[in-house]
Amino acid sequence: MPNVVYILNGPNLNLLGKREPEIYGHQTLDDVRDLCVAAAEEHGLQIIFRQTNAEHELVDWIQEAREAAHAVVINPAAYSHTSIAILDALNACPCPVIEVHVSNIHARESFRHHSYVSHRADAVIAGCGVEGYLLALRRIATLLESK
Ligand code: DQA
Repeated sequence: MPNVVYILNGPNLNLLGKREPEIYGHQTLDDVRDLCVAAAEEHGLQIIFRQTNAEHELVDWIQEAREAAHAVVINPAAYSHTSIAILDALNACPCPVIEVHVSNIHARESFRHHSYVSHRADAVIAGCGVEGYLLALRRIATLLESK
């Protein structure tokens, strides 16, 4: 049975490739999903890839991952900077968690510099564009192999 990785995406990431392409690039979330499927296959991982604009849905999915996932990759988008509920849900998750941001949040507005999720994340990848998701999957593969 392959290891299962939940890849969870927060608000407005459904507009990837359409909104602010100078910041987030031209690839869509469907492109990211395709890239992740290919990378997961290479690493022998199975992925569950989801996006929502609703904070409670992210919390529900993280609680689901707590039972069903071997690792979580999460781009909480704007909820990174606001959501203690998402942090609490991740704190209840025993598996590795990697936080991904397409843009470099530290080079942007000061309100983006702090992420609640980073308090829990085992690793944070920011500013690598959508390649960040692939780097996260590679790191997950390494972490799960060394277990
Ligand atoms: C983001 C960065 C967040 O600050 C922003 O609210 C997003 C996307 C990123 O991937 O760069 O929606 O998480």
